[in-house]
Amino acid sequence: MFDAIQAAPPDAILGLTEAFKNDANADKVNLTVGVYKDERGQTPTLESVKAAEAILLKGEASKSYLPIGGLGEFCDLTQALYFGDGHEVIDSGRAATFQTPGGTGALRVAADFVHQNFPSASIWCSTPTWPNHPKVFQAAGVNVKNYPYFDAGSQGVNIDGMLAAISEAPAGDVICLHACCHNPTGADPSVDQWKQIADAVYDRGLLPFLDFAYLGFGDGIEPDRSALLEFARPGVEMLVASSYSKNFGLYSERVGALTVVTSDSSSAKTVASQVKVTIRTNYSNPPAHGAEIVREILADSELRQQWNDELTEMRERINGMRKLFTQEMAERLPDRDFSFIKRQRGMFSYTGLTAEQVDTLREQFSIYIVRDGRINVAGINPGNVGPLCDAIASVLTGE
Ligand code: LMR
Repeated sequence: MFDAIQAAPPDAILGLTEAFKNDANADKVNLTVGVYKDERGQTPTLESVKAAEAILLKGEASKSYLPIGGLGEFCDLTQALYFGDGHEVIDSGRAATFQTPGGTGALRVAADFVHQNFPSASIWCSTPTWPNHPKVFQAAGVNVKNYPYFDAGSQGVNIDGMLAAISEAPAGDVICLHACCHNPTGADPSVDQWKQIADAVYDRGLLPFLDFAYLGFGDGIEPDRSALLEFARPGVEMLVASSYSKNFGLYSERVGALTVVTSDSSSAKTVASQVKVTIRTNYSNPPAHGAEIVREILADSELRQQWNDELTEMRERINGMRKLFTQEMAERLPDRDFSFIKRQRGMFSYTGLTAEQVDTLREQFSIYIVRDGRINVAGINPGNVGPLCDAIASVLTGE
């Protein structure tokens, strides 16, 4: 039976990690997968995480299963982190949060839930989007449609195209939105544009599904959650997939959450019972360690402060590299405008490089970039920015 199976192509993002590992060039640069790196190119374990792990190691009494929905305290702290303490959706009991294996786990549980409960609904994805979005949704059996998002001319959001597509989407469909730090473009709507988007989504009767993987990587926790708060209007329903991979550096622990906001607390209980069936028939219940770390940090004011400082440092380093890259490119190619890199937010930016130019960067300079031209700005440091900009300038000018 297995002999008839055709090989699948490598993953557009994670597949490049393998090629990078096999490259013998000592000066190779990896700007592919969205993982934070410090000035030395390392992905450190946060000090707050190590401190929380030390506490856990001492106190852990059992490795028995977690409940299907995960650690209750982790879920409560997640709601408070994302919506803010005392937000109406929390106090009314109309939000139900489930601990999931990473943000991708949350996306898949939500997609299964959509497919099982609204079988004719499509999920609308931005053009472009994270390449795994349509794959996860389709793997759950959900039809995927696309709405315009990125304006290559301004390197910003095509707000008119986006609003026009929303105004024509069938009521009852689901729209997936990147709550901040859009992946792959780094272009986010302004607060005012988020208001227009939320108005349009609710006028049309769509279910908003916010993918929130980068809280704290844009401008800070408060400003980064403004889209979520704009959508969390009285009585409305929404889905939120969130991740602790990036902001806690807990990539390998697979810790994320799915929050379902319903119209009232009784609906939240009914919906929660269905989401639990989805989880139970998928991976039964989530792993404990990563969620325990997050709980330990968020529940302890000192650890929380330490984490906040570390998050600020990561964000400020990325935004500093955005400025440095823009400046270095302006020195090499003064006629070309790279200022959008400085304006964009999060780990990623679209460079505008074509797939062929990306291939040349890899083959001739051992610089690894996703083939759609997306770079992970967090992979840039003062040591590699010079050779990186030299190589990009050479590829762009053909010299
Ligand atoms: C990325 O886009 O690089 C990250 O979200 C990691 C991944 O799983 O693709």
